[in-house]
Amino acid sequence: MALELDFADKVVVVVGGTSGINRGVAEAYASHGAKVAVASRSQDKVDDTVAALQAAGATQAMGAAFDVRDPQAVADGLAGFHNAFGDFDVLISGAAGNFPALASEMSVNAFKTVIDIDLMGTIHVMKAGYAFLKRPGASIINISAPQAFIPYEGQAHVCAAKAGVDQITRTLSLEWGVEGIRINSVVPGFIDETEGADRLAPTPQARQAVVDSVPLGRMGTKTDMANMCLFLGSDAASYVSGTVINVDGALYQRGSGQFGQQMGAMLRSMSSRG
Ligand code: HXC
Ligand code: NAP
Repeated sequence: MALELDFADKVVVVVGGTSGINRGVAEAYASHGAKVAVASRSQDKVDDTVAALQAAGATQAMGAAFDVRDPQAVADGLAGFHNAFGDFDVLISGAAGNFPALASEMSVNAFKTVIDIDLMGTIHVMKAGYAFLKRPGASIINISAPQAFIPYEGQAHVCAAKAGVDQITRTLSLEWGVEGIRINSVVPGFIDETEGADRLAPTPQARQAVVDSVPLGRMGTKTDMANMCLFLGSDAASYVSGTVINVDGALYQRGSGQFGQQMGAMLRSMSSRG
């Protein structure tokens, strides 16, 4: 079939959808006429995003403030979306936390915080959303990271969490695939004008090192990510499930490379251990 990107009246839920990459994805679905619901911790960010979704062309838009670390709050939030919009066609789980820190200098709670947001948050969203998914035909998209398969100095917490996210994707594509539910992960490279890229490449020099290491010669855009998520949510991807797809300009065919080494060296130079 031809690529069909009409999401009129489709129900799309984006958890962690109030800034950066995930907000770009939510706005892209809105501009294709979907009913879009977003969630994150900040009510102000939720309200701002809902207004933007309406302006972008969403048939309807709504939001809720909750923390993905609280399974009951996630369940209540998704039930509210389901009551208002009906069964979910697309469920996107993208809430995440990240900070560069060497494992030797990270508290146990710091490590656990990222596991709780990225990994536990993903399973909370998927389990709470399970009852509300359209069968057959629903598409779940987990937003992963290259840390899932490339070890990065200063990123032990994210590496562990996102590897878990991708294995949940693969495993539940088996368990839920029999019900006609597709599940995929999308791996952004360095995406310009986002919190994640700003945290890992905070200086012009670090940013240039990233650009220099991307075979396609540029950072990614939120539109690059939105296009992949639109495809995975569409019927054009009806035979795509259980995959982990990079949207990274081929960056991670190089591994973490010089950029990863530089980040490790910088963190060690700042270390209290000297
Ligand atoms: C060491 C740190 C730290 C740092 C926090 N902690 N920042 N440890 N270095 N820079 C420790 C704290 O001391 C605390 O441990 C524990 O982590 C929890 O910190 P809180 O501030 O209490 O957590 P919380 O308020 O829940 O905030 C979570 C957060 C925060 C992850 C720390 O940064 C956040 O809300 N982030 C959301 C936005 C975000 O990170 N976006 C980027 C996603 S990009 P103790 O022991 O003191 O209690 C991404 C991949 C990008 O995920 C990949 C690019 C290629
Ligand atoms: P971002 O702007 O910080 O987006 C994170 C979103 O998640 C926000 O809406 C945030 O809103 C929400 N969130 C964070 N913690 C939450 C929690 N505990 N409960 C509920 N919501 C929470 O980050 P981004 O850089 O665009 O990253 C988006 C996704 O892409 C993440 O999964 C990240 O791992 C992945 N990624 C990004 C890059 C990149 O280059 N940016 C690269 C690889 C992977 P609140 O603050 O209101 O909660």
